[in-house]
Amino acid sequence: MSGLLAGKRLLVTGVITDASIAFSVAKLAQENGAQVVLTGYGRLSLVERIAKRLPEPAPVIEVDVTNTEHLAGLADRVREHVDGLDGVVHSIGFAPQSCLGGGFLDAPWEDVATALHVSTYSYKSLAMAALPLMSAGGAVVGLTFDATKAWPVYDWMGVAKAGLESASRYLALHLGKQGIRSNLVAAGPLRTIAAKSIPGFDQFEDAWTERAPLGWSLTDQEPAARACLALLSDWFPATTGEIVHVDGGYHAIGA
Ligand SMILES: NC(=O)c1ccc[n+]([C@@H]2O[C@H](COP(=O)([O-])OP(=O)(O)OC[C@H]3O[C@@H](n4cnc5c(N)ncnc54)[C@H](O)[C@@H]3O)[C@@H](O)[C@H]2O)c1
Repeated sequence: MSGLLAGKRLLVTGVITDASIAFSVAKLAQENGAQVVLTGYGRLSLVERIAKRLPEPAPVIEVDVTNTEHLAGLADRVREHVDGLDGVVHSIGFAPQSCLGGGFLDAPWEDVATALHVSTYSYKSLAMAALPLMSAGGAVVGLTFDATKAWPVYDWMGVAKAGLESASRYLALHLGKQGIRSNLVAAGPLRTIAAKSIPGFDQFEDAWTERAPLGWSLTDQEPAARACLALLSDWFPATTGEIVHVDGGYHAIGA
């Protein structure tokens, strides 16, 4: 098998539709020689149906990242399909409605806690659950939305992403001695289920399509997926704790 990820075994979380960023990652990874195991949350039969649209059939393991039993059993479940992992993709985010769309000042702690548990802490939990299967040269890659700024409607999800960006640096620090890298891709706005759940998301859409120096497609997940593949590959062997922007250059300009 040839390709950028020839022979690599990957765990890819976060597929729920074929618009999911994770779906593009899984598809491109298979096309580039990787063996892919998916995890699904909630609507497993839907995830299994979507998985059939990949170039190769991929097994689906149920993982709710807030469920300690799912995490404890993950390595054994993955071992039923592959004998180790070279990469883990965290493509997971969720915040209750109160946390989004301008509700920053009123969102109760219980809802904020859910957002942080699913979107931030899970990056570490997932990596630790997969760690028994990983060895030097392995990589963990996650998805963020530039958290260096306060965005109009992103609210507590923005705080969760700032935490994720920090958690990725700490994971890089703590897993570096085992030769395992942790990096994030900061994607521009893409029309996925997660994005549609944010009231006022169209403000991002307009800003990006009008101002990104390279232009920006709201429906093309492939640029973000390509960056994930690059970070999972052997072509960034000395890069960890990094955030690669895949946003048409938007982050680099004064708006
Ligand atoms: N779409 C965008 O504009 C955009 C931009 C930058 C970053 N991101 C990030 O990309 C990642 C993937 O999101 P997406 O846009 O592809 O949307 P998506 O809705 O397709 O994927 C989100 C995934 O999170 C999963 N999930 C939610 N709660 C979970 C839980 N408790 N346990 C396990 N999985 C759970 C869902 O099942 C879903 O598969 C997220 O981290 C998101 O914040 C998205």
